[in-house]
Amino acid sequence: MKLAVSTLLTGSFFHSLVSAIPFTSQLSPLTLRQSCENTATSRNCWGDYSIDTDWYSVTPDTGVTREYWLSVENSTLAPDGYERLTCTFNGTIPGPAIIADWGDNLVIHITNNLEHNGTSIHWHGIRQLNNVEYDGVPGVTQCPIAPGDTMTYKFQATQYGSTWYHSHFTLQYSDGLLGPLIINGPATADYDEDLGLLFLSDWGHTPASQLWDIAKLGAPPTLETGLVNGTNTWDCSDSDDKACIGGGKKFETVFEAGKKYRIRVVNTAIEAHFQFSIDGHNLTVIANDLVPIVPYETESLLVSIGQRYDVIVEASAVADNYWLRAGWVTACSANLNPTNITGIVRYDNTSTADPTSTGITVGSNCGDEPLESLVPYLAMNVGNYTEVTEEALSFVFTNYFTWTINSSSLYLNWSDPTILRIFNNETIWPTDYNVVPIDQVDSSDEWAVYVIQDSSNLGLDHPIHLHGHDFWIIGQATGVFDVDTSALNLINPPRRDVATLPGNGYLAIAFRKDNPGSWLLHCHIAWHASQGLAMQFVESETDIAVSMTDTAAFEDVCAAWDAYTPTEVYLQDDSGI
Ligand code: C2O
Repeated sequence: MKLAVSTLLTGSFFHSLVSAIPFTSQLSPLTLRQSCENTATSRNCWGDYSIDTDWYSVTPDTGVTREYWLSVENSTLAPDGYERLTCTFNGTIPGPAIIADWGDNLVIHITNNLEHNGTSIHWHGIRQLNNVEYDGVPGVTQCPIAPGDTMTYKFQATQYGSTWYHSHFTLQYSDGLLGPLIINGPATADYDEDLGLLFLSDWGHTPASQLWDIAKLGAPPTLETGLVNGTNTWDCSDSDDKACIGGGKKFETVFEAGKKYRIRVVNTAIEAHFQFSIDGHNLTVIANDLVPIVPYETESLLVSIGQRYDVIVEASAVADNYWLRAGWVTACSANLNPTNITGIVRYDNTSTADPTSTGITVGSNCGDEPLESLVPYLAMNVGNYTEVTEEALSFVFTNYFTWTINSSSLYLNWSDPTILRIFNNETIWPTDYNVVPIDQVDSSDEWAVYVIQDSSNLGLDHPIHLHGHDFWIIGQATGVFDVDTSALNLINPPRRDVATLPGNGYLAIAFRKDNPGSWLLHCHIAWHASQGLAMQFVESETDIAVSMTDTAAFEDVCAAWDAYTPTEVYLQDDSGI
């Protein structure tokens, strides 16, 4: 990977927000004399900014541009010792870490080196304010990147914290096409060292793209195992399977007694729900998704797909080896090795012994952490709204099992993304684009309120993710929502970008109508997204074309895709996302 950090004199392609205190220097903020320095004992500081800054309206203007080059490729790998075809960024799972400081500009060149598939890369949780053309959803915000073509994504890190980037093209992320995205900024508690992202995922020995033929019928096959930061062990000792080459390793990290470590936990699974823990250690939770929270302590953490939790772990246990446990929750979905998705925390880096520690008992909760625990540090109430709109979630079985929301299942035409239709001034949407238009009606601080009601009677929990916004979780309960009697919490409710819709229950969310664009809302269970469990909010439509500055890049990607499609080998076989 080539990595260059350059300073640009202009940032003309970015709509940078208020630069409250413009930097006159072109140096990185770390080299500036900071008015309040971010150190191990002052993590709330960030130069002229701090943990108290409202990042929705203020962004440091660092003048720094960080540029990355990523190649999307098929790689034969054995992350757990079992060799199979995978899809990777630059040959590794997870891909290279993209790291920036709050306020930096990111320029990321994605080259599609796959032979027979398109791709499209999404920056999970990044708000993309006035920048919808870089959200990376094929059929919504762009055409897929054709084999051999390169697309350059450009956005400013207006938020900070922990997230991941991943393909949004069919099931590609499930086969390894994902990576860490860290934006350095202040925090709500102190720590000594940052250990970066910790990816928790499920993992099959057959590519998800092949399992789809079975999964699409409604009952996904049980996967073999899972990975912790892209690695695990698999017992090949009795196997005459040629692919079982062995050599898998456990993820390991070494603690120095007395130090505090920041670990950024993310669930990147296809369908797993985790109850994460480290034997003998408590977790102090300081952020949910890209939102700092008032710290709270817990022994274990429920993590739904797509969610991130930043935790601080103090090396305060007796010096020994300890299991770090992804904590597969069998009540939500099955796995052949639910208890073996583990890593090791050592206090002695010369030790090679397996831990003998014992840990928490994994429960049967397929939902989120208790809402009372997730208190945003920067308190914000829900503002003016005029209506509460309900969207029912259900399913139909036609040729295969599909989920429906807003009465229809999502099915996109990759060559005709929503944004292109908006450019062309088309206002009639195909039914299966599942478009819900939202507009500012009369005030400039107007909010949207949506209640997603599970009417399927299947009782499954769904991790619901929204693009383009953090949402305020104003209701989350089992049972049927009743606009007259169901309580909605509008006072500093939890705020994030993924929350679980409880089986046979409802999830009520609110967000500010402040970002023109077409924003996907979908279930982050990969099978369900492919089965159409998604809709899109076309927000402030008349402002979208105006806010798009880089139409040439957009048009080039579509032109290359259109030139490629006549020779396409694999035709679209799912919702498109
Ligand atoms: Cu993690 Cu629609 O994405």
